Amino acid sequence: MATQEETFKKLVSHCKEYGFVFPSSEIYDGLGAVYDYGQNGVELKNNIKRYWWDFMTRLHDNIVGIDAAIFMHPTVWKASGHVDAFNDPLIDNKDSKKRYRADVLIEDQLAKIEEKINKEVEKAAKRFGDSFDETMFRQTNPRVLEHQQHFDALHERYKKAMNDNDLNELKQIILDEEIACPISGTRNWTDVRQFNLMFQTEMGSTADGAMKIYLRPETAQGIFVNYLNVQKTGRMKLPFGIAQIGKAFRNEIVARQFVFRMREFEQMEMQFFIKPGTEMDWFKYWKTQRLAWHKALGLGDNKYRFHDHEKLAHYANAATDIEFEMPFGFKEVEGIHSRTNFDLSQHAKFSGKKIEYFDPETSESYTPYVIETSIGVDRMFLSILCGSYEEQPLEGGDSRVVLHLPAVLAPVKCCVMPLVRKDGLPEKAQEILNSLRFDVKTTYDEKDSIGKRYRRQDAIGTPFCVTVDHDTLVDNTVTVRFRDDMHQERVHINDLRDMILKAVDMSHLLRSLAE
Ligand code: GAP
Repeated sequence: MATQEETFKKLVSHCKEYGFVFPSSEIYDGLGAVYDYGQNGVELKNNIKRYWWDFMTRLHDNIVGIDAAIFMHPTVWKASGHVDAFNDPLIDNKDSKKRYRADVLIEDQLAKIEEKINKEVEKAAKRFGDSFDETMFRQTNPRVLEHQQHFDALHERYKKAMNDNDLNELKQIILDEEIACPISGTRNWTDVRQFNLMFQTEMGSTADGAMKIYLRPETAQGIFVNYLNVQKTGRMKLPFGIAQIGKAFRNEIVARQFVFRMREFEQMEMQFFIKPGTEMDWFKYWKTQRLAWHKALGLGDNKYRFHDHEKLAHYANAATDIEFEMPFGFKEVEGIHSRTNFDLSQHAKFSGKKIEYFDPETSESYTPYVIETSIGVDRMFLSILCGSYEEQPLEGGDSRVVLHLPAVLAPVKCCVMPLVRKDGLPEKAQEILNSLRFDVKTTYDEKDSIGKRYRRQDAIGTPFCVTVDHDTLVDNTVTVRFRDDMHQERVHINDLRDMILKAVDMSHLLRSLAE
């Protein structure tokens, strides 16, 4: 059986082979942690965005959308704290000249210790069979206890160093733990330095007159600076939300795991403006709402969990992540943050404008608090693919790769195929395609055997294949083949549209969330 790591590698190649994701500028050997979405990838990504957008702006009467520019006045980033505090601690190995995130090196070390514990447990479970008591073993086995003590002490020390922003201590931990560079194998490290993750560029034509500006590292600030515009022009009453989907850019030091950590990525963020003092109720509300949104896709409830933040960002008074079980462990896909009134207050201070809300019920003015939900489109995309990818053995020694994508998100909903390329079957198939194209993304395929054509559609997650044969010309019925269990049904062409729409129409999914 393939390990999780091998499966992930196969998934990455699959994404390229089937037009989901390509390395950026590949003919020039690519650009680190930047990717392009192909013909199927863009459809899947657009469907994810549509699902999020409609959930936010249609199911919630008090949420509206905006589309702010990527370039913003540079003072925005001073006010938000990003110029001074949007940093990662980096360290270089002097021999390999490779750069690492100091916190990631230590987290990897913690993961290694955890792995040692798990290996001991696995070995013992095999040795003792059914009589194995895991809890007892973890509490009493001397080797496990030794590793656990090491883990706890290191974790505590690391947490404190991060909270105190103590860069010397981070380096000392790396030295004490004897962490070596994976490339050179040496422990010849530089000091740990802070590295700002924002990309900079210049706006203006002359070098003297040019203004230094940043590529936004989050879309949220575009919402904060438009709070007054939207509130006034939309006559919005608290609580209300502003949603936005757009690109964000971070000069990540360690960019890895494919589209999980990119330098150019896309976010779907919603800032929910509320009355101060109500934030914990709304925080709870949005945790429930967002988890339900994820689970409704049907990839398995056990694949999601919350992870509360130990170290809160400078602006937050509560924060949690929704994590998805990727092949490389449970990883953050979405963050839900109670951001207090930090951002609006900072923008009021730096711009000199009054950014408040006049509450008609209490006749008082105040700066609203904010609950933010922030999800990466690319991470969501990856989680969907990881949760859908299967290498499935079939009867007779054959096998197939199938993407069990949620039907509403699948790039192609239906592929129409004439059994043979003659006798008027292609024309009939085109006729059916033309009747479906207005409702769902439908394609046509007449090359190779039917079996091969089915495999191609399985590989991109098409839920329905429709085969036109000679009987179709007589009685207007077709064979519908279902992706997941591969069963086939004879269906009248007049019933096709409704049958497909029932499974792929987003409104059914949204309705289930509103119930
Ligand atoms: N406005 C809050 C904010 O930006 P964040 O936790 O830094 O919070 C939110 O980012 C989400 O954006 C993450 O949960 C993740 O899905 C996505 N994200 C962040 N950095 C990313 C990167 N380098 N590549 C891909 N997605 C990223």
